Amino acid sequence: MARRKFVAGNWKMNTTKAQAVDLAKAVAAGAPAGVEAGIAPPFVYLDAVGQAVAGSSVLLGAQDVYFENDGAFTGEISIGMLKDLGVRFILTGHSERRHVIKEPAELVAKKASAVYSKGLILVHCIGEKLEERDANKTFEVCQKQIDELDPALFTDPARLVIAYEPVWAIGTGRTASDAQAQEAHAFIRQYIAKRWNASFADAVRIQYGGSMKPDNAAGLMAQPDVDGGLIGGAALKADSFLGIVRAGAPS
Ligand code: PGA
Repeated sequence: MARRKFVAGNWKMNTTKAQAVDLAKAVAAGAPAGVEAGIAPPFVYLDAVGQAVAGSSVLLGAQDVYFENDGAFTGEISIGMLKDLGVRFILTGHSERRHVIKEPAELVAKKASAVYSKGLILVHCIGEKLEERDANKTFEVCQKQIDELDPALFTDPARLVIAYEPVWAIGTGRTASDAQAQEAHAFIRQYIAKRWNASFADAVRIQYGGSMKPDNAAGLMAQPDVDGGLIGGAALKADSFLGIVRAGAPS
């Protein structure tokens, strides 16, 4: 089946409010048809960025969330609060949350379930560290991180996106080769087929993330199992982000 590509920008802890609004407006104005584009600014700019992209096809996303609805959880943000601001997709399991902030897998899993249960699109990030790749554990790590998702809960493939992001490629300028990305993506799709079923696996989108740029995006997205990208550094400039989004548009 033809899966529509989805290219999302993860702005991480970057931009001022004014830069965020300018960037969002430029992305909204330039986003081409035929490919889905999304942007995930820092929490504090979601409202302003949401207004900047209102009426455009660009999806608003959040970089993180807490799984409880409300209550005494100092500093946390609920899914309801994000929905109020127009958020449509939420990232879970990003490698910086797993490995820098030390978020445990159980918490990642609870967040992922909550995002899906509340009707939003989940972008669940998975990927191996360099020492895991060197020890031939890439598939094992991906499998374990996919196991954070319960097939009985996740029944609509349109609301599940897997972002395969080899940790050694994130922010390093060292991109996975087209063949390395395809090999991992094919494995991920096969494993999803095993855990869910073939038609679910066929419909789920698998983004590649890790130093994706306008000059390598077309090659990566031409791979049969690469359905878009999750972009960090190159999403902070409208022209480079839009260059990647355009590379995902059908020719
Ligand atoms: P990068 O980040 O594009 O800067 O490598 C990707 C990501 O962390 O999502």
